[in-house]
Amino acid sequence: MCGIIGFTGQENSVPILISGLYALEYRGYDSSGISVFGEDGIITKKVKGRISNLEDKILSEGNLYSECGIGHTRWATHGEPSDVNSHPHFTENLSLVHNGIIENYAVLKKELQSEGTAFLSETDTEVAARLIDREYLICRDPLKALNKALKKIEGSYAFGIIFREYPGKIFTARKNSPLLIASGSIGNFIASDIPAILKYTNKVIRLDDYDTAVISKDSVEIYDKDGNASTREFEEISWSYEIATKSGYDHFMLKEIFEEPEAVLKTISGRIKNGIPNFSAEGISSERIEKVGRIHIVACGTAMHAGIMGKYFIENFARIPVDVEIASEFRYRNPILNKGDMFIALSQSGETADTLAALRLAREKGLYTVSVVNVAGSSIARESDEVIYTLAGPEIAVASTKAYTVQCVVMYLLALDIAYKGKRMTQNEVMLATEPLVNEVSMRLSDVLGFSGYVSDICRRIAECENMFFIGRGIDYALAMEASLKLKEISYINSEAYAAGELKHGTISLVTEGTVVAAIATDASLWEKTCSNIKEVKARGAYVILFCGDNIDVPEGICDSIIKVPHIDGGLSSLCVACAFQLFAYHTAKLRGCDIDKPRNLAKSVTVE
Ligand code: M6R
Repeated sequence: MCGIIGFTGQENSVPILISGLYALEYRGYDSSGISVFGEDGIITKKVKGRISNLEDKILSEGNLYSECGIGHTRWATHGEPSDVNSHPHFTENLSLVHNGIIENYAVLKKELQSEGTAFLSETDTEVAARLIDREYLICRDPLKALNKALKKIEGSYAFGIIFREYPGKIFTARKNSPLLIASGSIGNFIASDIPAILKYTNKVIRLDDYDTAVISKDSVEIYDKDGNASTREFEEISWSYEIATKSGYDHFMLKEIFEEPEAVLKTISGRIKNGIPNFSAEGISSERIEKVGRIHIVACGTAMHAGIMGKYFIENFARIPVDVEIASEFRYRNPILNKGDMFIALSQSGETADTLAALRLAREKGLYTVSVVNVAGSSIARESDEVIYTLAGPEIAVASTKAYTVQCVVMYLLALDIAYKGKRMTQNEVMLATEPLVNEVSMRLSDVLGFSGYVSDICRRIAECENMFFIGRGIDYALAMEASLKLKEISYINSEAYAAGELKHGTISLVTEGTVVAAIATDASLWEKTCSNIKEVKARGAYVILFCGDNIDVPEGICDSIIKVPHIDGGLSSLCVACAFQLFAYHTAKLRGCDIDKPRNLAKSVTVE
């Protein structure tokens, strides 16, 4: 969704803001803009479309040099994507960028209009700009004006504001929308997201809700929710700038798929001691786990699919009932939550608004909350009782790949941890289950990556179709759901995932000559049944692609194409199949000429409900 960058220092801010905006592109956007201090006040350039359009505009309108400015990528919520609706929004005195939603903007707008204030755009953000401006005209003190306006604003916000009469300073505030301050050798920054500043520094302070702050080239002042000056330490981010670049790959998505073997090793490192999962550093204790009678896993999209994998692992190993639910449904259906229940939130970004809201509900009801998150210090991580970080490194492509794989790995380990602590598995059984994770998964994933070209050849047939099905049973059905989402989000092919045995209850009527059906089969105990379901669709003329473990005995003629992955015990072949169907989606989308890293209408981190 929207992205914010701001810089004040001793270099031209314009290229710094532009490079920050490019680094935020992955979040999804439809317009971009910057405001900088010029000789006679604030200069704003903003335009609909790609950041390159903004660059062209800046270049064509003359030389722009300024050592302080703010920039924004907008993902439209209030008002269509257009030049005028894009950020920054400005008045005579200030210019402002905003992430989040001003929920009471209509009421505030009416109030301001009744006082004679005119509006240029349809956005909620302009209301905030004009409200702060109104307060500023009374007190001529930016912080006072900001605080007064914030008292009236309902909703979520991360603001970056510059005031004409305060050159070199950037004012900020946050509530329910991430914002950080960063400090480097050339000056200070504000940003909504780490990649925006990684080129210049890895030293950051993440602001808390209700914080306000002022930065200049050599100072950072932060004020807490009561308005008191607050001293915060900078933390050093371990992500490097290189890891947030494509490093020679055509797309971030492909690069991130190829990072999976390493991401798995990093994620399990230090979390398995003598063959037994160990989350003591994360604070997950036997005392807490022993009391757990039911587990709720809540997430969105791909993370929710990793949650379904978690259900299979936990119920299989620990024999504790698990409900998996889409976060946006969970909080509005009055779920039955008991104090002893455990709540697991899965989120790559740690900022997904629906998941965050569900987590807050779980906490309110007194549940034990654990989050599985990729971005350190994100809101979901900070608001959970315990957090297990997936160590995938930054995931830039909108389509989640390596983050999903390591979420599944964490769910596998957590399931074993719960089973062991709950005395559902013996030490020996747990050791046998962790052994392939430690010794095989990373290597076997590398094997799968080795046949990326072969997968690409199979995709030639798929790239031409407009509809297809993914089917599977048990854990393979959970995989089918993710395979289907991956394909549709980046290739725009309509695909549906079905439990293989369910097709014949209605949907098989859609299977005719040439319909593409991808079947997933890693669980040998279910193969016979899945095989029958494949025969059912084959008999109706389907073109069948089989993703299976190399332990599956595939009869002659059962499928038209086959993608065999190495078998790994304990349900872990699923990770190899996941890698294969991610490549499958990638190559299909590439053959169709799609914008793979930034599919239409999608945003990387969905911070609105
Ligand atoms: O950051 P999160 O893991 O909370 O994001 C959840 C979903 O928005 C995300 O997984 C989405 O479905 C991906 N685009 C799928 O590739």
